[in-house]
Amino acid sequence: MSDIVAHIEKIGVIGSGTMGNGIAQVAASAGYQVLIFDISKEQLDKALQTISKSLSKLSEKGKLKESPEAILKRLNSTTQISDLKSCQFVIEAATENRDIKFKLFSDLDRILSPGVVIATNTSSISVTEVASHTKRPELVAGMHFMNPVPLMTLVEGIRGLATSDKCFQVVRQVAEKMGKVFIEAKDSPGFAVNRVLMPMINEAFFALQEGLASAKDIDTAMKLGCNFPMGPLELADFVGLDVCLFVMEVLHRDLGDTKYRPAPLLRKYVEAGWKGRKTNRGVYVY
Ligand code: 3HC
Repeated sequence: MSDIVAHIEKIGVIGSGTMGNGIAQVAASAGYQVLIFDISKEQLDKALQTISKSLSKLSEKGKLKESPEAILKRLNSTTQISDLKSCQFVIEAATENRDIKFKLFSDLDRILSPGVVIATNTSSISVTEVASHTKRPELVAGMHFMNPVPLMTLVEGIRGLATSDKCFQVVRQVAEKMGKVFIEAKDSPGFAVNRVLMPMINEAFFALQEGLASAKDIDTAMKLGCNFPMGPLELADFVGLDVCLFVMEVLHRDLGDTKYRPAPLLRKYVEAGWKGRKTNRGVYVY
């Protein structure tokens, strides 16, 4: 086992959005060579700028073992998925869309060497189903990072139905080398974090919709009353209201319990294009 993990020098990251660039950053900071793939060159350039800024900030605070320049030297990017063939471990962090992920896993399965583990950062799609689009389902597992990846300590590990113990151990050890604390959750909708977090956020939207309290007061209640770093509505804006709605829809559909129905107000905001910080408007205006 330790042989496999010791043998991993180069990690591929699929997707250069918020999660992908955060994962690439922590992987490079942990000493891995990293190759980030995205179909958009513009998005890749933006990701490298974001990583560079984040590393400078962490360096100013004395939180890096090396200079940002030394870490950045280990990061490369590509718009050709076939370039990932030299990677010994791959983490997929593409858009949370079933068809996109299924196609990526089928492509990766063809491109990567036999024995290479492919982890998915999905927040709500079945790891078992993602794995079924490869001929190596025993080497596929969930590796769910939290946003913002460089600051959040957790990685949630998810075993698909066919995930082997060996594969899961490799995922755990890579996460731990990245300085993360690893927990294990079942391959059930929302896993552990989103199963608990998203219904809480959804309930905050029901409360807001009913006029129970203002958005600011709901957030203050949870920040000062429960010591949360961000209130649930502020956090929803941070994560993206479209993401929150998507996860609630998965919980509602796959668990079949009406307690998971998305709050109409959450749906309405998403329909309006008020998706949170990324659109400069969500529950709050930025
Ligand atoms: N890299 C480096 N530094 C960063 C950073 C990043 N990516 N993001 C923020 N920072 C820095 C800020 O610039 C700031 O620096 P400063 O003190 O020098 O100004 C510092 O971190 C602290 O940030 P803030 O002052 O803005 O605020 P906080 O002290 O509240 O910390 C936070 C920010 C860590 C994001 C904190 O608010 C928090 O923990 N919020 C909750 C986040 C959370 O719950 N994440 C999980 C979401 S769920 C999820 O991801 C699952 C998915 O599937 C939906």
